[in-house]
Amino acid sequence: MARKISFLNYKGGVGKTSLIVNTAACLAANGRRVLLCDFDTQSNASIWLLRLERWNKINAGGEGSVYSFFEGNGVLLSDLIVRDVVHDKNGKAMLPGLDLLPTTFNLVDLENEFTGDPKRPAYLLFQEQMAEIAKDYDYVLFDCPPNLLRASQCGVFSSHEIYVPSNPDALSLIGFTLLVEKLGRFQQISAGFRTAAMGPATQVRGIIFNSIKTGVDIEVPKMRMQLRLNQFKTAKRAASDAKIFDTQIRDAMVVRRAVTLGLPVNLIGQETEHRDNVVQDYRSLAAEIERHQP
Ligand SMILES: Nc1ncnc2c1ncn2[C@@H]1O[C@H](COP(=O)(O)OP(=O)(O)O)[C@@H](O)[C@H]1O
Ligand SMILES: [Mg+2]
Repeated sequence: MARKISFLNYKGGVGKTSLIVNTAACLAANGRRVLLCDFDTQSNASIWLLRLERWNKINAGGEGSVYSFFEGNGVLLSDLIVRDVVHDKNGKAMLPGLDLLPTTFNLVDLENEFTGDPKRPAYLLFQEQMAEIAKDYDYVLFDCPPNLLRASQCGVFSSHEIYVPSNPDALSLIGFTLLVEKLGRFQQISAGFRTAAMGPATQVRGIIFNSIKTGVDIEVPKMRMQLRLNQFKTAKRAASDAKIFDTQIRDAMVVRRAVTLGLPVNLIGQETEHRDNVVQDYRSLAAEIERHQP
């Protein structure tokens, strides 16, 4: 069965999208079948992996984006998946096994225009089809915006696990705290829609520190995060085995450049020494996620 994981923090700009794209790429490079679902209206993961030309076509037409599933015209989620999304100029797959459920800017309408049937909220519609699709994957990863509105709810309701990308600062800690509070509220309102087959409600199972600058000591922010996590675990508001990941991702220019190149960092060719180091971080993180089985 696929492990379904949402990457979420109420703080924006912590590196959710960079983590998810690069980790997904490392998992796929190890032969895992990975589906990355982009639930952020900003579409950063989709633009990154599809590159602008292909993404523009979907954005202009409005079709092919995850939002078209919610418009109720009989569009199936499985029809929207872009298989082996990373390819070279000749259309040859560069990372077989990495698929994308893309989004475009129209996803914002899920928060505004979408009314739907109150007895069948968006996250339930999504979860039902995702449960079938997930059978074809080892990992389904959800990139979420920094909130728990409808789009994130789809990811969270479908997931077994939540990982919280964080920077070593006070705002990330606040973002994590807010997330756990909002999550508790969402679990209450969605409890009636959970079935036994779905297993227990999704909780935070990991914190991942990102963008760590060389020579900067992060022991104090890490300790504060650990204390907060312990409080939530004691209150049963985070998973009993939740932890701060040993792997942390260093700050590296190539992570920012990768977006422009339209490639995950592990596929970027001749680069600086720095690149190898940060690629090693993402590989270690992918391996640690594999070991952190629920
Ligand atoms: N490890 C890193 N090193 C350097 N820059 C990074 C790193 N991780 C993320 N960034 C940069 O930080 C910015 C925010 O990252 P992003 O992944 O878009 O965060 P989020 O999805 O949480 O908003 C982007 O410009 C991205 O390129
Ligand atoms: Mg993002």
